[in-house]
This record gives sequence, C-alpha cells and structure tokens, in this order.
Amino acid sequence: MVAPILAFVSVKGGVGKTTLALETASSLANHYGKKVLLVDANFSAPNIGLYLDLTNEITLHDALLGVGLHNAIYEAHGFDVVPAAMDYSEEVDVYRLKKVLEKMKYRYDYIILDSSPHHSEMKPVIAAADKIFVVTTPDHVTLATSLKAAMIAKKNNTPIEGVVVNRIRDPKHEEDLGDIEELMGLPVLARIRDHKKMIKAMYHKIPITLHDERNCISREICRFVSSIVGEPEKPFRFFELMLPFKMSFSKEIINRQLSKE
Ligand SMILES: Nc1ncnc2c1ncn2[C@@H]1O[C@H](COP(=O)(O)OP(=O)(O)OP(=O)(O)O)[C@@H](O)[C@H]1O
Ligand SMILES: [Mg+2]
Repeated sequence: MVAPILAFVSVKGGVGKTTLALETASSLANHYGKKVLLVDANFSAPNIGLYLDLTNEITLHDALLGVGLHNAIYEAHGFDVVPAAMDYSEEVDVYRLKKVLEKMKYRYDYIILDSSPHHSEMKPVIAAADKIFVVTTPDHVTLATSLKAAMIAKKNNTPIEGVVVNRIRDPKHEEDLGDIEELMGLPVLARIRDHKKMIKAMYHKIPITLHDERNCISREICRFVSSIVGEPEKPFRFFELMLPFKMSFSKEIINRQLSKE
C-alpha cells in the first residue's frame, strides 16, 4: 500500500492542528497498529518536537536542503516523527516537501502533516497532501477563517475529507454541527470537547490517546481515526458494546461511515 498523506490545516492559530495531527498519529499507531510517520510541516513555528520532547538535531529543514529524510526520523510513542528546526538560518524551498516525502510513501501506512496557519506555509502542505482535514473551533469567527483553508485546498484540487471541530466548550452558545456543515459545505467528522486533561497530557509530553485512553477526547479521536482506516469504531464502554446502534443517531457518526465508504 502507498501511504496516503493526510494534512491538518486551518488559517487560525491555536485551534488544535498540532494536537489533532499528533493524536491521530498516536491513535493510528497504537489503536489500529499502523506504521505512521508524523511530519512537522509548520516551517516557521514548529511545535511537535516540543510536544514530544524530542531533541531535534537533524530536521525537516535539513531534508529540504538535501539531507536524506531518513536521518531526520525519530521514534516516539509507537510512531515515527520528523521534527522541524526551531531556528534555521538558511532559506528552504518549502515546495520540496512533496518530493522529500515521496520515498516514505512506500515505508509507512500513513503520513500525517501538521501545518502552520500562515497561508504561505500552508500552501506547500496542501500541495503535498492527498487528503485534508480542516480543524476549527465552533465559534463563528474561527469558522469564517476556517473557510479560507478549505478554499485554498479546493483551489489546489486536494480533496478535503471533512472538518474536525475542536475545543467545544459551551454547545448552547456555539455553532452546532448543522450550521458548521452548511457554512463550510463539508461534513463534520469529529466533535472534540475542550478538556482540562489536555494540559496533563501536554505536561507529561505524551499523547492523550495513550495517556488517558478513556478520556472523551481520546475516544472521539479513536472513532475519527476509524473512519480514516475504514475499520469499525472501537467500543470503549459497556453500553457501546451492547448498543452500537445507539451511536448511529449522531450525525458525525454517519459522516464517518460515509467517509469510510
Ligand atoms: N480539545 C482540547 N481541549 C483542551 N485543550 C486543547 C484541545 N485541543 C488543543 N488544546 C490546547 O490548545 C493549545 C493549542 O493547540 P495546538 O498547538 O494543537 O494548536 P495549533 O492549531 O496547532 O496552533 P498553531 O496554529 O499555533 O500551530 C495547546 O495548548 C493544546 O494543548
Ligand atoms: Mg501547531
């Protein structure tokens, strides 16, 4: 199998692109047994090295300058990671990303890209990706800017799989799934709550999908990942095991099922 390259994008900062890229990589590897390469393609403000406590000696920047990408691969929590350089002096051609990843497509099951919210850095990521997930929070301000990311992907003819709504805090006063789908013209594939345990996972520098498998964020990410791999959603609670049909009423579950098909 040739690994699909999946990218998490948004035009707004801080919505959870890095978190989603990292947790998706972790879930693909640890829940579904896939061989995963997570690449920090946030060229100017990379975070994955910091999230995972990696010492980034050789990085994506070196690979873009001609060093073999295999030299920049580090292992973390069951998957492989290519961090980017926090400081770099030489200008790099970010559009080489697609070429640099080419060989890795035969060594992994999935390649996941984290991206910058900046237009100029997101474009090469979208160009390198086979599928895009737009990450947004459920407020109308962020949603309006999220549309931009979707438009850039559409212009590039990179298929957009759907939207991940992250950091849901107060559903009563936030846009609901129907509004978001109507505005974005895209299916919502996951709805992830804002949860204080993210801070704990960040503190321990371990993905929450590993650190706290039963947390609602971990469970939703695991279900979202099931639609990526096309495998049944993993039941986490007794009632989910006994009553799988109960889940099928929620719209994002139906979207995930359609995405699998
Ligand atoms: N569901 C969540 N619940 C609680 N905190 C979250 C959640 N998702 C992300 N965060 C926190 O929000 C902050 C920003 O997340 P993250 O770094 O993933 O955003 P980003 O979109 O990658 O930002 P940037 O555009 O700056 O790269 C982090 O502190 C992260 O731990
Ligand atoms: Mg980030």
